[in-house]
Amino acid sequence: MSSYFRKNIAALVGYVPGEQPRDEGIIKLNTNENPYPPSPRVFAALRHAINRSLRLYPEPLADSLRAVAASIYGVRPENILAGNGSDEILSILMRCFVGPQDPVAFPVPTYSLYDTLIAIQQGERIAVDYPADFSVPEALAAQNAALTFLCNPNSPSGTLVSLHEIERLARAVSGILVIDEAYVDFAESEGASTLPLIRQLPNLVVLRTFSKSFSLAGMRVGLAFASEEIVLGMMKVKDSYNLNRLSLVAATAALQDMPWMVRNVARIQRSRRQLAAGLKKLGFYVYPSHANFVMARKREQNLKEVYEKLKGRRILVRYFDIPGLQDCLRITVGTPREIRSLLNAMEAMENNWTP
Ligand SMILES: Cc1ncc(COP(=O)(O)O)c(C=O)c1O
Repeated sequence: MSSYFRKNIAALVGYVPGEQPRDEGIIKLNTNENPYPPSPRVFAALRHAINRSLRLYPEPLADSLRAVAASIYGVRPENILAGNGSDEILSILMRCFVGPQDPVAFPVPTYSLYDTLIAIQQGERIAVDYPADFSVPEALAAQNAALTFLCNPNSPSGTLVSLHEIERLARAVSGILVIDEAYVDFAESEGASTLPLIRQLPNLVVLRTFSKSFSLAGMRVGLAFASEEIVLGMMKVKDSYNLNRLSLVAATAALQDMPWMVRNVARIQRSRRQLAAGLKKLGFYVYPSHANFVMARKREQNLKEVYEKLKGRRILVRYFDIPGLQDCLRITVGTPREIRSLLNAMEAMENNWTP
C-alpha cells in the first residue's frame, strides 16, 4: 500500500489497515437486510465469474437471468425486466408513466422512495391514508392516477392485503397499478403474490427484489413482471447496461438454489414470532407482520428516546419522525441472538430508563 494512500485516502474513508470493519459490534435492525448469507452457490458462481470476461459489457437485457426467472415464476422472459435493485425499477416506472402534474396515488404510511421519485418527476402526489387495519383504502382507486402504488406486504406496517382486494383495485384504477412485493417471500400465507395475475390484468406491474429474501442487498438486483408491452416500454427507458456482470451472475445463482432462500425465510418467520411475542410482553402493540420486520406501537408515546437509547447501545432500529408514526418503531428480524440482545436492552430500559 502506498504511503500516499495510508496518509490521505485511508484517513478520508476511515480505513485503518488490520482493523475490524466499522460496523463490527453493531446490531443493525434498521434497513431490513437478511441476517443470513446468500447461498453458497452464489459465492461459487461469483468466484467462477471473476475472470478476464470482466472486460466485456454485461448482457444489456439480462437474458440469462430473465430466462431462469421466467421458468421459476411461470411467466415468459418477455414479461420480465431486470433492474439495479427494485429502486431502479421504481425510477424507470416513474420516468415511463409520470410527467409534470400527472397524478400518482398510494396509501400512506408506506415506502418513502415513492414520494422522492414523484417529486423528481414533478408529478402530483396523492397520498391516501390507510385505515387502522391497513386494508386497501376505499378512496385509492378513484384518484384517476397515471400510476398507483401498493406496497404488499407494506412497509413500515408489515401488513398484507389479499389477492382479491388487489384484483379489485387493478380493475378499478384508471392507470397502471404497481404492486411492490419486496417482502412477499416472508408472507405467512403461501400464494400471497400477485404475480400470476399479470396474465389477466394488463395494467399490473409486480416488483420483486433480491435484497431481502435472497440476501443480496449488496448486489442490487430487482425484477419487474408485467405485460410484454409494458416491459418493452420500460426497456426503452432503462440504461443500456443497468446491471453489472457479477450482479447478474449472483442473482441467477440465487434463483437456482430456492431451497436455501426458503430455509432462511422459515428461520426469519420463526424469529419474527419470537420478536413479536417479546415486544408484546413489553407492552407494545405489534402489527401482524408478513415481512422481515415488525412494526411495534406504544399508543401516543413518542419513541424517539427509546430509539436514541438503543442507538447508544449500538442497536439500530428504524424510527420515523413524522406525524402518525412517532409512537412506532420498525424493527428488522435479525438472528435469534440479535433479537435477544434487543429485547434485553429494551427490558432494561423499561425498568430503569438508563442506557
Ligand atoms: C418496499 C420496498 N421496495 C423496494 C425496496 C428497494 O429494494 P432494492 O434493494 O431492490 O432496491 C425496499 C428496500 O428497502 C423496500 O422496502
